[in-house]
Amino acid sequence: MADLKMELAAALPRLQKAVFSQPTDGAPYQKAALRPVVIKARSLFQLEGFRDNKAFHRNLTEEELLALADEELSGRYRQALIMTDEGAAQYVLRRDGSYRKSGKSAVPRPGGGAAPTHDREKKYLLAEGENIPALVDLGVFTPDLRIVKAKYDKYRQINRFIELIDDAFSEVEPGPLTVMDFGCGKSYLTFILYYYFAVRRGFDVEMIGYDLKADVVEHCGAVARKYGYDGLRFEVADVSGDVLPDREIDLLVTLHACDTATDYALHYAVRHGAKRIFSVPCCQHEIDQTISCGGDLDILLRHGIVRERVSALLTDAIRAEILEDMGYETDLIEFVDLAHSPKNLMIRAEKNHAPRRRNIPLCRALAKRYGFRQTLLELVDPAAE
Ligand SMILES: C[S@@+](CC[C@H](N)C(=O)[O-])C[C@H]1O[C@@H](n2cnc3c(N)ncnc32)[C@H](O)[C@@H]1O
Repeated sequence: MADLKMELAAALPRLQKAVFSQPTDGAPYQKAALRPVVIKARSLFQLEGFRDNKAFHRNLTEEELLALADEELSGRYRQALIMTDEGAAQYVLRRDGSYRKSGKSAVPRPGGGAAPTHDREKKYLLAEGENIPALVDLGVFTPDLRIVKAKYDKYRQINRFIELIDDAFSEVEPGPLTVMDFGCGKSYLTFILYYYFAVRRGFDVEMIGYDLKADVVEHCGAVARKYGYDGLRFEVADVSGDVLPDREIDLLVTLHACDTATDYALHYAVRHGAKRIFSVPCCQHEIDQTISCGGDLDILLRHGIVRERVSALLTDAIRAEILEDMGYETDLIEFVDLAHSPKNLMIRAEKNHAPRRRNIPLCRALAKRYGFRQTLLELVDPAAE
């Protein structure tokens, strides 16, 4: 015979997760899960409850959790599973309100399951098994929250993205936060970003994902509603032409927004004073298609493969120079290892100085000399056209 609250109290220091299922009539949720979280350097426990296809989250101190264990957990669910570093124990509710404990078994090592062997030791900020059920609907997780094998590269990229976001925001006090994702596509990143900010960190997030594809936008919107992600919405828009809301934003992200869509996103960000930009460009064709010989570096244009790579790098170098002129401290960093994706460069920028006009004329001169077009340059410096 076991007292669930006492078992939980004993498990908390080494808790991995706990799941409460098969609700009785008095249970507030159809299912509830508990896991440790760190929010603003405080160790807390996050209770996630599911009701009417929506997820509800509460971050609790140990004291609050144990107070709530009597009212909402113990005796309210017929089954409980408590997993700690030492093993997993099952509890089954008995008629007298106590629980029968059915032993401990070894806990699977983090990183096991569907992931390829060479990645099993890699610990991600959002580990496999993280309770983000929206990712099941998006096809990234299996129903038991394992990463779908074919989606492993994407999951790796998104985790890296979140790690870089976490570096920038770990010291930022949770509060209102407006985020836009241009070219969100199937929105794996958008959902995980929302989860990171709203659920893990407790920000009051308003997040919009824009994409051209109406069917994808509709599906993502339905998934957001299903999980009660009230601050997350998706809209059909062509970011290169449609009029988007005229408002201040805190963070703009793009992940592989095609070709010049990245330029329009960056332009929107600077015009609306985005405090931070994280952008991973993709298929930078514009310069490659317009560049012609014009100077000492003509040798780099002779072979198609070299011209293509030089053009892509030149595109992002120009974007970074422009952002610097627009008031952003900017760096170009390796996003993921080249072995995992050729699209491995990230533009990371933070607004921290007054605009100036130092780099744009140099970029203009280059464009003139080599005859190429570069959309961001033309957007920020139309007079020179
Ligand atoms: C390669 S996908 C990347 C999707 C997502 N960010 C990801 O990393 O999984 C590029 C997305 O950008 C969208 N896109 C391209 N040009 C766009 C534009 N002008 N306006 C809005 N979305 C655009 C496409 O529809 C596509 O979904």
